[in-house]
Amino acid sequence: MSVANHRLRLMPEKPAEPTDRSAVRSLMRLWPYVRPVRARWFAAAFVAVLASCLSLVIPLVLKWMVDGPVADRDPGGVWLGAFYLLLLGIVEAGLFGLRRWLVARPLAGVEASLRADLYRHLQRLPVAFHDRWPSGQLLSRGTTDLMLLRMFLAFPLTFLLVNTTTILVGFVILFAQEWSLGLVLLAPAVPLMILCSVFETKYSLVARKAQDQVGDLTTVVEESVLGIRIVKGFGRNRSQARAFRALAQRLRGTELVKARLLAGIWALITAIPELAIGAALVLGTVQVADGGLSAGTLVAFLSTALALRWPVESIGFLLAMSQESATAADRFFEVMDVAEEPSTAVGDRREPGGDGAGLVFDGVEFRYPDADAASAPVLSRIDLRIRPGETMALVGATGSGKTTLTALVPRLHEVTGGRILLDGEDVADMERSRLRELVSVAFEEPTLFSATVGENVLMGAEEAGEEELRRALSVAQADFVHDLPQGVDTQVGEQGLSLSGGQRQRLALARAVVGGPRFLVLDDPLSALDVHTEALVEAALRRVLEGTTALVVAHRPSTVMLADRVALLSGGRITAVGTHQELLHHNTEYAWLMSGAEGTGAEARAGVPTAEEVSTR
Ligand SMILES: Nc1ncnc2c1ncn2[C@@H]1O[C@H](COP(=O)(O)OP(=O)(O)O)[C@@H](O)[C@H]1O
Ligand SMILES: [Mg+2]
Repeated sequence: MSVANHRLRLMPEKPAEPTDRSAVRSLMRLWPYVRPVRARWFAAAFVAVLASCLSLVIPLVLKWMVDGPVADRDPGGVWLGAFYLLLLGIVEAGLFGLRRWLVARPLAGVEASLRADLYRHLQRLPVAFHDRWPSGQLLSRGTTDLMLLRMFLAFPLTFLLVNTTTILVGFVILFAQEWSLGLVLLAPAVPLMILCSVFETKYSLVARKAQDQVGDLTTVVEESVLGIRIVKGFGRNRSQARAFRALAQRLRGTELVKARLLAGIWALITAIPELAIGAALVLGTVQVADGGLSAGTLVAFLSTALALRWPVESIGFLLAMSQESATAADRFFEVMDVAEEPSTAVGDRREPGGDGAGLVFDGVEFRYPDADAASAPVLSRIDLRIRPGETMALVGATGSGKTTLTALVPRLHEVTGGRILLDGEDVADMERSRLRELVSVAFEEPTLFSATVGENVLMGAEEAGEEELRRALSVAQADFVHDLPQGVDTQVGEQGLSLSGGQRQRLALARAVVGGPRFLVLDDPLSALDVHTEALVEAALRRVLEGTTALVVAHRPSTVMLADRVALLSGGRITAVGTHQELLHHNTEYAWLMSGAEGTGAEARAGVPTAEEVSTR
């Protein structure tokens, strides 16, 4: 059905149950990132506490004014009091400004380092992870969630501290003024705290839901933008728009629930203290009338209570923001907690094989990590040896596992059984960097990055220079780049010039051969070339292949001809190995695959007798 629904099924592991989740624990995990800026942060928090407590001095000045100059009818004293009040206000504003200046830059740094860590981690996660996680979820975590975390450190975290301190100090002042009135104000504290904790639990659930829905929405937007040609070409604008609207509606619903919860708690937090202040006012006035209390004290008491209104009222939405931030932290660490691919595989290491040189598949078995445990593995008992300097073509029906097999060599996936040897050395025991130096790959889907042509090609070998670049381009018959507006310095990829499929494939091929790798793994690298270009690339490839040991997935007889031998992959096994001519004459499935009719998986295999198993070892 819609893209949206498809994606929803792919939603990653569900978040931890809310019951065993603690907002504080989630947020505490941010400490390593905050540590470097802790001095500034605490300084800023201290300044804010100071500024906030200054506002509590104002009622004391008022008391002094009412009981002193006002009672004595001394205008000069009133002016002096007004001057003090003004001064206090200015200092308070200055301190809050200072706080902002103290934290703004360091916290932007914290956000940047969180983002850098996430990005680095994403690069190191196994391919299997990216197969499983929708990209929109990763995007929203890398942007919105991290922004929430920065804001949390700057605002709610500071002000929870500031407001709590202010409330405590304020109550000390209140009790010092008149303890009986203080008790009246304190009475609603307990029900308020209970209400806040109930609210917090509910709000955290909705907040998580909303953030996940933002991720889903991002995925749909991203896919529609990336797939705009398909969307337009198939007239899918409507259904995409429908999917988008459905998700947006759902998000809107969730946001409304959030708003409703917030409105409820806000109403209670505002109304209850208001009632308490009203009660205190009545009681206080009675006491002043009885002469038990000075008018100044009552004024000071009430203005302190009013000054405490904002710290108390803001607690509600500060808690809400903290909940959202805790959720953002959870979402961030959910990704960060996924194990990176090990540099070398763990597990039992076997003797370095005495299997000699070349590329050897030794009893290789593979099953995708998310596959049903009961299902048959995609590849089983693959035994194949490609001799040094030899080119082996890999032929098989669609879905037979060719791409999977080629991905195992550079360890984009880890074998689940058996081993792969490069010149006798198990790839599982190799440092990844060394493995990437030895083996070069080109895939069916040529991916170009937003960079120049030259940079895209040189991605294949870091130290390669101009000369190698030129040679690789010529080998891949990609000389067309010299006719581009800025030659090899032309920007391509998403932000640059659009290249045709065949042009992209030739650049991907140039990238694969630029470092002069010992082993070359090409997954059907010629599929998008027209017949003439293909012939040119093949002629050039022939020269490259002479110097390397290569495994080349091939569909057309002309590509197969480049290879010294051919291996036929069928039903997850290598069912035949031989020269093109041998297989053509002795293997019906092979003859059928090469007969020009492009097989479509199931039909291709149906009715074809299983060839007798051939192993070269
Ligand atoms: N990332 C994946 N997760 C699970 N199964 C996959 C994945 N990629 C491919 N497969 C399955 O593995 C089988 C082999 O796919 P593939 O290697 O792409 O075949 P080929 O390249 O020969 O057409 C197919 O049945 C396919 O559905
Ligand atoms: Mg394939």
